Amino acid sequence: MEIVLVTGGAGFIGSHLTDALLAKGYRVVIVDDLSTGSLDNLPLSNERLTIYKRSVTDNEFLRVLFKEYSFNYIFHYAAIASVQKSVESPASTHAVNFDSTLVLLEAARELSALKRFIFVSSAAVYGDRPSLPCSEEDGVNPITPYGVDKYASERYVLNASSLYGVPGTVMRYFNVYGARQNPSSSYSGVLSIFTERFSESKNPNLTIFGDGKQTRDFVYIKDVVSASLLLMRDERAIGKVFNVGTGRETSLREIVAVLEKLFDKKAIIEYKLGRKGDINRSYSNISRLEALGFRPTYTVEMGLKEYSNWQECDK
Ligand code: UD1
Repeated sequence: MEIVLVTGGAGFIGSHLTDALLAKGYRVVIVDDLSTGSLDNLPLSNERLTIYKRSVTDNEFLRVLFKEYSFNYIFHYAAIASVQKSVESPASTHAVNFDSTLVLLEAARELSALKRFIFVSSAAVYGDRPSLPCSEEDGVNPITPYGVDKYASERYVLNASSLYGVPGTVMRYFNVYGARQNPSSSYSGVLSIFTERFSESKNPNLTIFGDGKQTRDFVYIKDVVSASLLLMRDERAIGKVFNVGTGRETSLREIVAVLEKLFDKKAIIEYKLGRKGDINRSYSNISRLEALGFRPTYTVEMGLKEYSNWQECDK
């Protein structure tokens, strides 16, 4: 049975990938310090699932772990996902968002059965671009510590293929949303915050930083999991970077309109000064991923509908 290490596997995205891997018959080992993830996200009774509550920056622990398991695949999700937090605390976010990649890569060099090291990067590496959509062939211009750490990690992962024979693939996720995304902090993803407000209140109070015309490529969790499984298994992905998005851009104002229609409620919006390091427009060119057979299946309307149904049931 093949073994997959998923760092950050108790988190929003990592836990969905874990579910899919278990359903496909893999054995999954999770390393997660549960700082933002939760055991509630995981099927704890599944005997092919093992969870270690440890940090991915714990060198000694990883050394022992890699002696115990001969991993076939590694997905590196563990990160401090908030761009804003990285702007406020660059040193502490760097330790997680960058150092962990180096430590894992060093450990991965010793694995003879490793088929793939998949690093989860971000659209944040593109920064504010004069030309859109963002394509993997274009240059990058990260404008926050988060984006810089993700980009530096990408380079290490790709170089590890040629330097040490570690077969790496990089996925640049755009703005992922869906069930289990935690809306409870001001650092949370915007759709988790907005959808929760709509689901909980008659007159949802929203804060929009900037004019609300900023755009993102909002990609639903199920499409992200499909893309990740596809990249894991297709050998053509080795040594390459892939955008994972929908190829469409949606502004925050458009999102509010979709939610207002979906919930039949009117939002009360407070506009505040734009956040430092915030990107104005972002959306993906996904032709490289499409060439491997990927098609996004969820529009923002469909994804938000499914996500809000989950939020209602989860209460
Ligand atoms: C998000 C992800 C990041 C990922 C990146 C890829 C989170 C927390 N961050 O960053 O991990 O790598 O996408 O593109 O999921 N906003 C409001 N009101 C709010 C909250 C946010 O107006 O209450 C605005 C922000 O200022 C920003 C936009 O919404 O303009 C999106 O913010 P956010 O959801 O934090 O995502 P990104 O910064 O794009």
